[in-house]
Amino acid sequence: MSFLNEDKQVIAPLYGKVDIDFVKGEGSYLFDAEGNKYLDFVAGIAVNALGHQNEGIKKAVVDQMDSFNHISNLYPNYPQIELAKLLLKVTGFDKAFFCNSGTEANEGAIKFARKYFNRKGENNRQKIITFVNSFHGRTFAALSATGQPAIREGFGSMPADFVHVPWNDCAALKAEVNKDTCAIMFESLAAEGGVMTLSKEMVETVNTLQKEFGVLVIIDEVQAGLGRLGTFLGFEKYGLKPDLATLAKGIGGGLPLGAVLLRQHIADELKAGDHGTTFGGNPVACAVGASVVKQIVEGNLMKNVEERSAQIRAGLAKFAEQYKFIKEIRGAGLIVGVALTDEMPVGNVITAAREEKLMVLSAKGNVLRMLPPLNISAAEVDEALEKLGKAFAKVAG
Ligand SMILES: Cc1ncc(COP(=O)(O)O)c(C=O)c1O
Repeated sequence: MSFLNEDKQVIAPLYGKVDIDFVKGEGSYLFDAEGNKYLDFVAGIAVNALGHQNEGIKKAVVDQMDSFNHISNLYPNYPQIELAKLLLKVTGFDKAFFCNSGTEANEGAIKFARKYFNRKGENNRQKIITFVNSFHGRTFAALSATGQPAIREGFGSMPADFVHVPWNDCAALKAEVNKDTCAIMFESLAAEGGVMTLSKEMVETVNTLQKEFGVLVIIDEVQAGLGRLGTFLGFEKYGLKPDLATLAKGIGGGLPLGAVLLRQHIADELKAGDHGTTFGGNPVACAVGASVVKQIVEGNLMKNVEERSAQIRAGLAKFAEQYKFIKEIRGAGLIVGVALTDEMPVGNVITAAREEKLMVLSAKGNVLRMLPPLNISAAEVDEALEKLGKAFAKVAG
């Protein structure tokens, strides 16, 4: 019996899963039970920033488990402090809060933003503006923030005062922001929503509104952060100055870990008991996080991200000349999107790529998405392009 058959018997039916029995990962590759070797350009949906079986991560887990596995947030926990110091040094933020996932990081940031204005006596500041097709998570406030009505359907009333404006629509954003606005919240690159980059005008508009109305800016770096766009956090690429940034996915190197980074003015308005979590900042996850951050920064992986990105895009540009169904090449760094015409469903390309032993995924709007590990090699990118070329040729017929 395949894993998928067993999965169907015992796991809640919330995902459309592919019928492959993965049993091992190594670097940028996954292996199934039959010994097939797949090049992994999904990387656990941007989680495995350093691929599988990274030695630094393994050592961090074992070393930390040798001292203690969990002590709660009732006491200072040194792996948390060490990771916070690394993150604050590389990002310029002032304080960190740790949690376990992207949605929790966004819940935290939303709560901190609302509490900030509450403590300042501005309870009118409730409205949080996010973008159409954005993705911020599946818990209630993050779901309310997410600009995809379909995934809210049937779950009853949502936290109020979330407004969604079209991506890069400066006029629509300006029309919504006033003295009752709490925050503007968005991804530094809308990944799930179709691999959409921020326009220069949008960045300028956000910066202006932040100054003019004192509205907070929350940047969701859950998918685009941790070096994936070629800068440590994605917003650095665009010249934004967010008050809060949220992280998850890559930071845990495969373990559940999320973080909110705060500027001092936000941290100044928070008190013990305002928010909390049992597992958030788990010592083992944080020890791994410290190893991941050190490897990205000290290993100069962001340079590799830029080089491999250029290599992938050059290869894709050739495919675009060859195949009419390729509409546009999108993205930045190692979030690469290929927008396809309606005649070529992205699922067909994903299936064909899988038959060539290349794992890729989709994004909204018939877009093929690639999220390789940040330490992917030039030879592995060549291999991926060769496999993708065969997949395109197959679907082209
Ligand atoms: C930009 C962004 N924010 C938030 C989330 C939610 O993260 P999690 O699934 O860890 O809750 C995701 C997940 O895909 C994401 O891509």
